Amino acid sequence: MGKVYIVGAGPGDPELITVKALKILKIADVVIYDRLVNRDILKFTKKGCELIYVGKSREKKEMSQEDINKLIVKKAKEKNVVVRLKGGDPFIFGRVFEEMLELKKNGIEFEIVPGITSAIAAAESALIPITERTLSSSVLIVTGQEADKDKRKVDFSKINADTIIILMGVKNLELIVEELKKYKNSSTPVAIVENATLKNQRVIIGTLDNIVSIAKKEDVKPPAVIIVGDVVKLRSQLI
Ligand SMILES: C[S@@+](CC[C@H](N)C(=O)[O-])C[C@H]1O[C@@H](n2cnc3c(N)ncnc32)[C@H](O)[C@@H]1O
Repeated sequence: MGKVYIVGAGPGDPELITVKALKILKIADVVIYDRLVNRDILKFTKKGCELIYVGKSREKKEMSQEDINKLIVKKAKEKNVVVRLKGGDPFIFGRVFEEMLELKKNGIEFEIVPGITSAIAAAESALIPITERTLSSSVLIVTGQEADKDKRKVDFSKINADTIIILMGVKNLELIVEELKKYKNSSTPVAIVENATLKNQRVIIGTLDNIVSIAKKEDVKPPAVIIVGDVVKLRSQLI
């Protein structure tokens, strides 16, 4: 029986992977990786390492979480070193609990290797100091994917922080902004960091009042991190 390493690949720039992750990738027999993992990272694997993509593609739908769990267990039974490679940090919206539970149930040893999350790296890469002491003493990381009116799990009216960082929020931007405007001033600055840490990174700046129309005009596409709060305005002093 092999060991499974659940590894964070970092936010995008392949150099932002940890030394520990790199060491493990070099000895991996199989790597099971997600859509947002930079493919350049896979070049660190040894010859003959099996590479299995489980994200969405033009040809096929994303594999279900259940099937991914089964695949990891199957590979752990066949190989020595199995890497489950996830974008950013595995513990930030990485559906990692299900995978750990399945491994535990099957008596398979596993270890978590943290990564740099895009939630923080995007702010750093865009020069937005999210905890600048005069403006922000709290940061909230939240998913924007479940802001759908029918199946809302994130109640934006109940959560607040000086700085709010939203992942997976591009599709629901209008809804999210509508909710945030209920308790944040509409002049509150907003930044959208698209393709953070990559060569094609874009930073789009606006306020709660105009960010939806700016994002449309700029044709903002995922992956992107949305940062809401007064700290966003500090960026203009740094660029
Ligand atoms: C399923 S979540 C996974 C987050 C990941 N575990 C992390 O720690 O970064 C995917 C979301 O992360 C954000 N994201 C990941 N990589 C990004 C990047 N390079 N630029 C901007 N946003 C990114 C986007 O909001 C995307 O929709």
